Formats: sequence, structure tokens, C-alpha cells
Amino acid sequence: MDISFTPLQARHPGDVHVAFVAQSEEDRRSPDRLLGKETLCALLPWLSGHAAWDDCSGEALSTTVLYGPAEGERPVDRVVLVGLGDTAACKDTWSCLALARKAMGAALTRCRELRAGTVRLHLPALEPLAALADVDLPVLVEELVAGALGGLYAYTALKSKPKDQGPMPDLRLAADDPLPGPGSPLHKALSRGLAGGAGLWLARDLVNTPANLATPAYLEDTARTLAAEYGFGLDVYTAGEVLELGMGAFAAVFQANPDHARLLVLDTHGGRKPAGQSHAAPLVLVGKGVTFDTGGISLKPALNMEQMKGDMAGAAAILGCLKALGELKASQRVVAIIPATDNMPGPLAVRPGDVVKTLAGKTVEIINTDAEGRLLLCDALAYAGRFQPEAIIDVATLTGAAVVALGDHVAAIYGNRPLLAAAIQRLAMPVGDLLWPMPLWDFYFEELKSDVADMKNVGTRMGGSVNAALFLKQFVPDGVPWVHLDIAGPAFKTKAAPDCPAGGTGFATRTLLHLVLEWKRLRIAG
Ligand code: BES
Ligand code: MN
Ligand code: ZN
Repeated sequence: MDISFTPLQARHPGDVHVAFVAQSEEDRRSPDRLLGKETLCALLPWLSGHAAWDDCSGEALSTTVLYGPAEGERPVDRVVLVGLGDTAACKDTWSCLALARKAMGAALTRCRELRAGTVRLHLPALEPLAALADVDLPVLVEELVAGALGGLYAYTALKSKPKDQGPMPDLRLAADDPLPGPGSPLHKALSRGLAGGAGLWLARDLVNTPANLATPAYLEDTARTLAAEYGFGLDVYTAGEVLELGMGAFAAVFQANPDHARLLVLDTHGGRKPAGQSHAAPLVLVGKGVTFDTGGISLKPALNMEQMKGDMAGAAAILGCLKALGELKASQRVVAIIPATDNMPGPLAVRPGDVVKTLAGKTVEIINTDAEGRLLLCDALAYAGRFQPEAIIDVATLTGAAVVALGDHVAAIYGNRPLLAAAIQRLAMPVGDLLWPMPLWDFYFEELKSDVADMKNVGTRMGGSVNAALFLKQFVPDGVPWVHLDIAGPAFKTKAAPDCPAGGTGFATRTLLHLVLEWKRLRIAG
């Protein structure tokens, strides 16, 4: 899909225009419910007097098409009106932007059904919506672009006869002349929306691709493609090399199937280090890359187990973020560490009660082989210390307990720097990743004490998400700011939304992108 700016006046007959409409109980027929009415009616004079306003309820996420007057052979203009519901309910920025993304997704889906070649969105007409969300226009534009791409996403790679959803339309953002140039806030917003959307597509594809295809080797291929395309450095370690590094906890998970083990280390500055200069201290992103989680010997029940193909959603979000960073040629150095394997039972699989030695030197008694994510991550966190990072952010579908606590729309956020965690939460909400802080007090560690080793890999079921986070905290290199996102709930959806079909959501991808882009400012604040 091509998205670019175009002059407000440069219209083509047959274009499809998208406009937002509020719901009003008092006067259902009134075109006054149209946001940006003056701008739109100046461009399309027939719009306000159209006879079919009655058909447009303005109900949230409903779409109505109004057809312009026929003039000879010319194709008629069409306006896709998308409802926002009762806009008085838009009480805060994040929920209003969430509505805007969904509305945009619904509108684009409708445009596609109409087989629109070019869709126009008139930027001056968006000011009232930006005011409702209490943001500047560029912030809204970035979310609308992300919403459009999110709504147009579909995973069809494995359908032999994919359903015809219509051609991908191009989107034109109509602005006053002169058009927003490179470096302008609107131009940046468009680039970020596009890059974030591309990242979202990659992350969703990786989650949706089944585990017989999306193996650790497949993640390696994806990393290779990114490295080649954007000049990132890439180190790949296979099972033997991971063992040699001393990652006994990670190795315990892949020992059932060592062919399916990779440690991927991507460095956005790896490919272009100026001669004689040392690398800048990076921001390190660590992602859980369990390509399928059966639970291992502590086997999971069959119900919904197929969703465990998404147990690499943390890794997927990080790869998606890196794609976006590559597209934007971002200057901030990022190192991504992705331990990837599947968690399988088998004659060589790790057993409950086995004790392993981690990279950090601490020993762990593996009580439950289904608590495998923390085994991969504890070694990856310790490994991150080698890069002398400014901070470590890990992202993982770590515990079912996080889903029990927060449901499947919200992820748990933990960290050893409350201000940094709060800043990330604040930055994540407007891009649609809802995060909520959880406690990380040391007394929870009572649960993790082992009779035979330094610690166990699980406590009781109660407080399971906290226990897992506290386990990880033991492996964060001394003095390094660290934030942990437990995304087990929102990484995968069984219900479609207008800006995201059922399956992988790409949760955290755009948060990571914004985090990296804003890092210098955040670091000073935190
Ligand atoms: N991958 C799961 C967590 C998960 C659950 C992700 C539901 C997505 C949806 C993780 O490896 C796991 O199995 N965790 C166990 C931990 C328990 C054994 C302490 C869990 O949450 O049940
Ligand atoms: Mn598990
Ligand atoms: Zn898992």
C-alpha cells in the first residue's frame, strides 16, 4: 500500500474519500455530525445536501457510502463515512486514538470492498478529531496510518484460494500546499506510521505462521533478511555454541531438540561502525522466541494449545521494531537478543527436578518444564550485560497468570526503575499497547527458594506473573535499568477487530519503536 501526501485541491473523479461522523441521538439526519464539515463540503459541495444522510447512523465503526452526482461519463465520487459513536465518550487520549485506529481500519476495509484505487483523507478535516483526542494533528495522523495498515493486514500465505478482499488501495493524505516536507512533524508522522505498520505486519506474520514453518531457523532467516536490508550486524549461535557460552538454562529447554535452537544477536550499528570508533552504549531488547510451547514433560492440556505457536510474540515484536527502525534509518543503537527454540517433550527432554547452571553462575532447579520462558530469558539477560547497555527491555509471552490478572487487552509491566517503567507505560498507551504496572517486591522470592539449588523456576500458582518477573530480576546485570513486559494476554487474539484480524496482534512492536525513537529524551527523564 502506498501512502503519501497530495495537495488538497488536486482531486480526481472517482476518488473515494474517507470522513468521520459522530453519532447524535437528537438529529440522525443532520450532516452537522460530520467532523471537518466545512473543509469537506467546500471540496465536495454535494455532500451536505445528500439525500441519504439518513442511512448514516454514526454508530461506532459502522460505515456508510454516499455517492456523488453523476456527470456524463465521469466516474462518481464516493465518500465513506465511518462512525465514531458518541464522541462525548472520548474521554482520554488513548481510548480516542484507539477508536480512531479502528475507525480507519473499518474505513479502509470498506474502501477495499468498493475496489477503490485511491483513497483520500483530508488532513484539515481531521482537526476536530485531533482536538477530541487532545493531540496535535501529526500524532493523530501517525495513528490513522497505523490503523489503516493494521486494518488492511491479512495472513493469507497458507490459503490456496485466498478470499478476494479487493485490491490494496493507495492512501493520499490531502494537505494544504506546500505539502509537508521531510523533517516536518506531519512528514515524520507519516514515516513513523508507515514504518510502524510495516513492523506490525512482520510481527503478526511471524506469530501467525505455524510452528512447522516458523522454526528457530525461520527466525534466523528473518533476522538475516533484516540484517541484509538495513545493514545490521547479526551473530547466530547454534545449540553447541550456546552451550559453550555457558547458557545452561536456555540449553535445558532445547536439549529435547537441539536442531531447533538459535541465539540471534542483531546490532543496528553492527554493519556500519565508523573506522576507529567504538560503539555507542546500546539499548538492548530481549525477546522470548519459543516457536512452540508444548510445556515439555510438564505437558500442557490440548485445549487451545495451537495458540502456543505464538509463544515467540516477544521476539516477533522486537524483529518488527527492528524493521521499522531500519525503514526510518534511526540513529539510536539497538541490540536485539533473541533466544529461540521450541519446548518439546522427548527422551532427551529436561525433567522436573533437574538442576542447571545459568550463564550468570546461579543454579536453578527446574520444577516445571512449562516455565521455560524464564529459562531462556535469564541467560539472555545475563548475556545482555556484555554490551554495557543503557537499559534492557525484555518482551515475553511469559505467564498465563498475567492473563488471569489483566485479561487479554492489557500487558503487565515490571522494572527496577519505576520512573522508566512509568515513562514507557505513558508512551505505549497512545499507540494502543495498554500496559499496567505490577509489584516486584523481594518478599515474593520466598516462593522461589529451592532445597537443592539457588532457586526454583516456579513458585505457587498464586502471583505467577510476579514470581516470573522476580525470577528474571535475579539475572539483570548489576546497575542496569531493566523493564519487563509480560504480553501473554494481548499478543494473540481469537476475535477480530477492525484494525487487527484474529491471530497475532503485533502487540509491543510500536511501543518499542517509540521507545527507541524517544530514548535519548526518556533516558534523561528517567
Ligand atoms: N507460554 C506460556 C505462557 C502463556 C500462557 C502465553 C497463555 C500465552 C498464553 C508459558 O511458557 C507458560 O507455560 N507459563 C506457565 C508457567 C507456570 C508453569 C508457572 C503458565 O503460565 O501456566
Ligand atoms: Mn510454557
Ligand atoms: Zn511459553
